[in-house]
Amino acid sequence: MKPRASDYVHLVRMAGLFAVGITAFLVLRWLMVPADFGELGHYRTGAVPDNMARPIVYAGQAVCVECHADVAELRARGKHVRVACESCHGALAAHASNPDGQKPVRPDPRRTCISCHSANISKPKSFPQVVPEEHAPEGSCAACHAVHNPKIS
Ligand code: HEC
Ligand code: HEC
Ligand code: HEC
Ligand code: HEC
Repeated sequence: MKPRASDYVHLVRMAGLFAVGITAFLVLRWLMVPADFGELGHYRTGAVPDNMARPIVYAGQAVCVECHADVAELRARGKHVRVACESCHGALAAHASNPDGQKPVRPDPRRTCISCHSANISKPKSFPQVVPEEHAPEGSCAACHAVHNPKIS
């Protein structure tokens, strides 16, 4: 029996919709993907110079140590040896390149400590943590702990 148009017309309609959809996708993709995308990898090549042009805000611990050898020496013996300077002091590239012009603010010796050591069920058990309200309800943590070498006993 010869197939009637009504048997397959819905498939033609469907194929038409797919054709429109695929064409729209290809056109939009062509319009929206930057020309230099994919040259070096799955990203825009221009993103590299864009990022290199951003100002550097972190100096890195090696630079701090050149001038603050005393702090570095104190830290070398302490439990904070693996915590980099700028984790607590914030980004200080501006200070490192111009120490007299940019005197850094000292980090708050309570708020800074609590940001890492406040007890939380999601932290690994092995990480030293305290409930600040019980351990030291107020005042500076530096009253007892030397910030750069915090273990007391
Ligand atoms: C080129 C030398 C140099 C470099 C590099 C440098 N500093 Fe300094 N820093 C100084 C000098 C000088 C002072 C001022 C000392 C003073 O006034 O007692 C200072 C002061 C500070 C202070 C304030 C001290 C206070 O008494 O309040 C902090 C904190 C500090 N530096 C942290 C850092 C950190 C963190 C880095 C690395 C990102 C760094 N410095 C890199 C030379 C340097
Ligand atoms: C765990 C956090 C932490 C780290 C890591 C840290 N500091 Fe500090 N630092 C502090 C706090 C908090 C103060 C302020 C202490 C106060 O006011 O009692 C401070 C004070 C200072 C001061 C002022 C003078 C002094 O000795 O107290 C200097 C200079 C300094 N830090 C430099 C550094 C450098 C350089 C490094 C890295 C080699 C570093 N710090 C790493 C928390 C930290
Ligand atoms: C950026 C996160 C961070 C900040 C901020 C920080 N610490 Fe720590 N602290 C650590 C890490 C990491 C260790 C080492 C843990 C280890 O050895 O397992 C540590 C270790 C310690 C220890 C030793 C615990 C023990 O018994 O072994 C004490 C005490 C301590 N910190 C107190 C402080 C105090 C006081 C401050 C504020 C000046 C502070 N910490 C700020 C991350 C931080
Ligand atoms: C009155 C003194 C005092 C003050 C203030 C104080 N601590 Fe302590 N802290 C101690 C003593 C004592 C220990 C145990 C001995 C040690 O560090 O070796 C200790 C231990 C710790 C430990 C290690 C806990 C563990 O399980 O190993 C951390 C973390 C700590 N303190 C953080 C802080 C923070 C954060 C503050 C500020 C909110 C603070 N401390 C203020 C006296 C103090």
